[in-house]
Amino acid sequence: MKPLAGPCDRRENLWNRHRPDAFRHVRGPIARMRNSKSRGESQMGIFAKDIKTLDDLFVHMLRDIYYAEKQIVKSLPDLIDKASNTELRNGLSDHLEETKGHVERVEEVFRMHGAEAKAVDCPAIDGILKETREIVGDAADPEVLDAAIIAAAQAVEHYEITRYGTLIAFARQLGREDCAAELEATLEEEKAADERLTDIAESRVNQAAVA
Ligand SMILES: [Fe+2]
Ligand SMILES: [Fe+2]
Repeated sequence: MKPLAGPCDRRENLWNRHRPDAFRHVRGPIARMRNSKSRGESQMGIFAKDIKTLDDLFVHMLRDIYYAEKQIVKSLPDLIDKASNTELRNGLSDHLEETKGHVERVEEVFRMHGAEAKAVDCPAIDGILKETREIVGDAADPEVLDAAIIAAAQAVEHYEITRYGTLIAFARQLGREDCAAELEATLEEEKAADERLTDIAESRVNQAAVA
């Protein structure tokens, strides 16, 4: 599965740079949040009133991905335990180690940017990981379970890819090429993990799952 074109797409980043209204896509959800009385939704920090500038939004999104990476570190061992295919287990194990490095890299970006390193709840990754637990729990056949694990892991990777793409665009817009370079290193590892999962699925696991 190829990553969807989105904020992480380099052409889009270039486009954003020349369009001051390029981030207007966040207005729809903000409007919905303002009308929402749901306690859970109203706690979504991305729509908090204290986010006034692109810098505020950048720091908030760093805190969002910081939370997400930590949750992924907690979740991957269970997927590794449940996977049967050796290449899949190895791929997930390698990415678990990379993910621990992603947490450290986000901490480094906080330090470089002079922002406090703290996590804010990310309902998006919570939802993806909740669905992962459900789909993996439902698949009884080992080969089908491997296919389910790959599908779930790729949803996580794509979430990370879109978030890092946006963070890199924001960092560049804010003149923080140093932060962008750190984030770019992680983005490349997310894309490589996604491609490795695609290769394992298409060359072996999906075929085994229909046998
Ligand atoms: Fe990551
Ligand atoms: Fe990842």
